[in-house]
Amino acid sequence: MKTYMETTPIELHPFSQSIHSIVEQHVQAANKTGGDDPFIVGDLGDVIYKYRNWLRNLPRVKPFYAVKCNDDSTVLKLLADLGANFDCASKAEIQKVLSLGVPAGRIIYANPCKQASMLRYAAKHGVSMMTFDNEAELHKVKSIYPDAKLVLRILPPSNFKVQCELGIKFGCHPSKALNLLQLARDLDLNVMGISFHVGSGCEEPEAFSVAIQQARVVFDQGLDLGFPMTLLDIGGGFPGHEAAPVKFETVAKTVDMALDRYFPSEEGVEIISEPGRYFVASAFTLGVNIIAKRVVSRDQQGENGELIDQPSLSEEPAIMYYVNDGVYGSFNCLLYDHAEVSVNTLKNADEDDDEFKYESSVWGPTCDGLDCILKSVPMGMHDVGEWLYFRDMGAYTVSAASTFNGMPAPTRTYMCDADLWYEVYPNVCKSYHKAGVCKGLPKMKAGHSLQEEWSPAPGCAESFVCN
Ligand SMILES: Cc1ncc(COP(=O)(O)O)c(C=O)c1O
Repeated sequence: MKTYMETTPIELHPFSQSIHSIVEQHVQAANKTGGDDPFIVGDLGDVIYKYRNWLRNLPRVKPFYAVKCNDDSTVLKLLADLGANFDCASKAEIQKVLSLGVPAGRIIYANPCKQASMLRYAAKHGVSMMTFDNEAELHKVKSIYPDAKLVLRILPPSNFKVQCELGIKFGCHPSKALNLLQLARDLDLNVMGISFHVGSGCEEPEAFSVAIQQARVVFDQGLDLGFPMTLLDIGGGFPGHEAAPVKFETVAKTVDMALDRYFPSEEGVEIISEPGRYFVASAFTLGVNIIAKRVVSRDQQGENGELIDQPSLSEEPAIMYYVNDGVYGSFNCLLYDHAEVSVNTLKNADEDDDEFKYESSVWGPTCDGLDCILKSVPMGMHDVGEWLYFRDMGAYTVSAASTFNGMPAPTRTYMCDADLWYEVYPNVCKSYHKAGVCKGLPKMKAGHSLQEEWSPAPGCAESFVCN
């Protein structure tokens, strides 16, 4: 039986609610208690949807979720329960996944340059599937874990547009693959497959088809050398949010066609992949509080290039907003992931459309001038203490965030559409109901009514927390 994280409260909602209204509810709750810390709302229903959508669109491809993208324990546990496998890059990531009860066989150690002690840890715990792309790694594996099941990572073509290049660091050029495979054979190692990563946030689906074609050539070299060659790993790079330059479904179609052509299912090669962004990007929404604000002159600078604090009476000012998460925290994605973010306010659409917009900038809370989230963005006038929010903050955000300057990490809460939750955890949730530990926590705004098919357990209000 699946046992869900007993200690993590999950807000279950009787029907889908907009992110805007979820954020509104959090802000109302925070305002009541005088709370002003930044917060993240993780929509687990979104992760469930993504998982199912993957299976629908890429039924041949087993996902190994890339833990580096977002190592949130609640998300990892849910993905494990849904049946996902995992791509880990270090001992700590392997430990974290194993601690959820995931068997070692559902993990790929997808780091072609592994620290020796971490490789020893993998060997001790039976995490045998791992990537390599260089000679030194083969000698290391030979001395530490000669029974490992090796997957050669090749370098895919670099002429396609991606958000984050990975080929500058990893991947054996296909023209050198034969030499590496020969060395693996001379060392009596087990090579079981080929992998590649087209680059994170791939914007052109053809990158996958060309890489799959290239992988076929190297795959055949492996077969010719006598390796069993049972696996193709098509890496990550899949888009994870609505506004991505290319739709996941479009990429999936191209991948599926290329697989059918170069690795037809009759051949029986196992196809896996290492998606990160796809599963989590849209699941996290970040709420931040405006902790300070400066009204400055729009055009004029002082003698030393500083902004002039007081615009003249006739001049339209620019506004600098300071919020309590920044590039040293969740917005590290601006630096490391080359991400772009857009800001949302809690004003409703009509109000927002009608409002005059000032040239504004949004800054993080630390003392570093680098800590800028948005350099120039048109925004209505906001007061200190108001809240802003950012959607699509699930990928490459929390996993690399620091608390530099003592700025706290956002609190995290989780929510899910109740029907979806029950589909994944039918027994657990219902037993909570029966045991009467389901706390009634009204969350609905006045005037909202329940959907007819929703019948809350006795004592439960419209929306509740299982804990
Ligand atoms: C080896 C490896 N696999 C998978 C991923 C996940 O990629 P994405 O988030 O683009 O799906 C990465 C990202 O850097 C990676 O380095």
